[in-house]
Amino acid sequence: MTVTSINNKDQEENDRPKHIVVVMDGNGRWAKKRFMPRTAGHHAGVKSTRKIVEESVKNKIQALTLFAFSSENWKRPEQEVSSLMELFVSTLQSEINSLHKQNVRVRFIGEISAFSEKLQKKIKETKELTENNTGLQLNIAVNYGGRWDIAEACKSIVKKIQLGELQVCDIDAELIDEFVCLKQLPEPDLFIRTGGEMRISNFLIWQLAYTELYFTDVLWPDFKSEEFSAALNWYAGRQRRFGKTGEQVEPTQTQQV
Ligand code: FPP
Repeated sequence: MTVTSINNKDQEENDRPKHIVVVMDGNGRWAKKRFMPRTAGHHAGVKSTRKIVEESVKNKIQALTLFAFSSENWKRPEQEVSSLMELFVSTLQSEINSLHKQNVRVRFIGEISAFSEKLQKKIKETKELTENNTGLQLNIAVNYGGRWDIAEACKSIVKKIQLGELQVCDIDAELIDEFVCLKQLPEPDLFIRTGGEMRISNFLIWQLAYTELYFTDVLWPDFKSEEFSAALNWYAGRQRRFGKTGEQVEPTQTQQV
């Protein structure tokens, strides 16, 4: 007799994203609705960030990448930028031990050298304290831009060509993958953007080629466990095809019994 069966463990693993990336948008609007300064929204956003890290640990997500500050965010009012910088320092300071206790490995992507000595020191401390942790890989994108990431990869490849270590004909998508940020991790499975906008905003534009895109109107400070579960449930219902047909990737197996 032929029956259709599903290996439950494999199915569960397929249903759960290995790598989630998040654009944490809507802090300013959250504050405005409450007649508070925009910076109050960023402070409230930190609480959601903490919660989502905890949820990711609980749900055994391999990697979580958060867009905390884009290369373009320098264009914001000076007072907001400096307040965000202060917030990054104080957040790393207050969260470092808890992240370490949760076995989270923290890394940063972006042009860190543009930051103050104080912030660079905190970034270094956080990275070093957690570098041997084996749980959630948390990547914080700061002064990051997807176009910058690709341009940096191009520079590194050209340097190797000049040194004779690579040839122009070696350049293909797999090679570029080796030079962009997050190369050591699985490609993002799930992209979440809060705050109602439906755009990528120069985040990981190379890496998102096959990522499932989830947009929600919920503002980042209101995005907590329930909203995170909703995003995970939505993802579990997606069929990832990577260019194949639905029949080719159907996860059911035909088994002879
Ligand atoms: C976008 O909302 C949010 C930011 C530019 C900052 C996000 C930073 C945090 C949540 C702090 C996290 C801290 C660490 C260390 C990871 P917006 O200001 O553009 O909101 P709006 O669209 O409503 O104006």
